[in-house]
Amino acid sequence: MNTSTVAELLDKDITLQEIEIKGWVRTFRANRFIALNDGSTLNNIQCVVDFENTDEALLKRITTGAAVHIKGELKESQGKGQRVEIQVNSIEILGDSDPETYPIQPKKHSFEFLRENAHLRTRTNTFSAVMRLRSSLSFAIHKYFNDNGFYYMHTPIITGSDAEGAGEMFRVSALDAKNPPLNESGSVDYKQDFFGKETNLTVSGQLEAETYAMSLGKVYTFGPTFRAENSNTSRHLAEFWMIEPEVAFMDLAGNMDLAENFMKSVLSYVMEHNREDLEFLEKRLLDEEKTKPQAERSEMSLIEKINFVIDNNFKRVSYTEAIDILKNCKPNKKKKFKYLIEEWGADLQSEHERYLVEKHFKCPVILFDYPANIKAFYMRLNDDGKTVRAMDILFPGIGEMVGGSQREERLDVLQEKMKALDIDEKELWWYLDLRKYGTAVHSGFGLGFERLVMFATGMTNIRDVIPYPRTPQNAEF
Ligand code: 4AD
Repeated sequence: MNTSTVAELLDKDITLQEIEIKGWVRTFRANRFIALNDGSTLNNIQCVVDFENTDEALLKRITTGAAVHIKGELKESQGKGQRVEIQVNSIEILGDSDPETYPIQPKKHSFEFLRENAHLRTRTNTFSAVMRLRSSLSFAIHKYFNDNGFYYMHTPIITGSDAEGAGEMFRVSALDAKNPPLNESGSVDYKQDFFGKETNLTVSGQLEAETYAMSLGKVYTFGPTFRAENSNTSRHLAEFWMIEPEVAFMDLAGNMDLAENFMKSVLSYVMEHNREDLEFLEKRLLDEEKTKPQAERSEMSLIEKINFVIDNNFKRVSYTEAIDILKNCKPNKKKKFKYLIEEWGADLQSEHERYLVEKHFKCPVILFDYPANIKAFYMRLNDDGKTVRAMDILFPGIGEMVGGSQREERLDVLQEKMKALDIDEKELWWYLDLRKYGTAVHSGFGLGFERLVMFATGMTNIRDVIPYPRTPQNAEF
């Protein structure tokens, strides 16, 4: 007989009677009722043990966290709370779990404690729900691009150029750290390193994705990216996953349409396929918010928030309009912002972004046409000569979710920009080649996967939506 999963056995169309199941004991109550979970669903299945006819020593080994193999019959449940249950005929303990030391007790644990036990935290309802959603979102992302004619491209993780300028990088080196070879000027001689040059972990796959867009048309990357910034916040990781589509012959307006359509589509997917987990996480968030002052609670529940994003257009606002709103808003006038907005050209801080999306527009906002000098070198310069075709998508409760742009396709303009920023043309000769041979308008964006998972799960710390978070001073597991 095949082993079933809890999800299969709880399905209302199940017709099996004799069943076999393997899983982990969540609780064992009254020497009789096992709540069994195997990760296939949020729900446990109740397994009823005939304790009078079961060896005492075996009963003692049915403890929270133990792995068990049960054979029995699936029956309509006598008790309340479940439709079916398993009448246990035999139980084998596959792996014991000492109740004295097992960290995941059947009680509420703090997220801090669970982060320290990240190897076991998916045995809780919250983390199993979050990680099932993460998996589902990731599938929906690949499905969206596949359905829409995009090719999946694997951009390199080790990079020899640090020209993107998206953040501080982690060096990749095979040199002896204690005794590296030095060159004549006394600095480390990377010519003798593994790759014969200085190399780092990538901050983004964009520049390489551009090369493929300019031959395959529509491509996307979805892989890990690395930033060595010392930002110890609830929204930053040193290792995070980024989705980066790149499309030839598409301008900024098309880029905004793509990003909006894409996000609505993947969120709709999980609304359809992960309802149970979402409802559980919605309740969790509600409970968490009850502990906060009224003013800090969200006006909408988790599912309402997701539906709101699916059903409403993102507000498209130029940087210049945003600055006008911010200059004249109450917190700016009353000097409540840490960074006051005084003039056009100011870089927006997260307090400003949050004001715009949470207080002013109360919906996702696409900010576009930023001042050239606060954005990356590759962004398409507008005819005004001072703004670039950049876009950031800001989400309530999360802040920046997406950063993207139309790319500068004119060789001379790009060269001039690189010169002004002291970016060596030799380092990016291949990137410039794209502008020499068959250049064309093209655009793309990067979406921080963990920020999307945060939005979809209502989790408020980015460390709780990735299996093993890498943050300053922390690379455990
Ligand atoms: O805005 P960023 O830096 O954009 C780029 O890297 C472009 N090359 C993308 C492109 O056009 N192809 O990063 C994109 C997104 C941000 O909007 C944010 O969601 C996420 O990546 N992100 C982070 N997420 C977690 N931890 C960090 N340290 C992040 N830095 C950026």
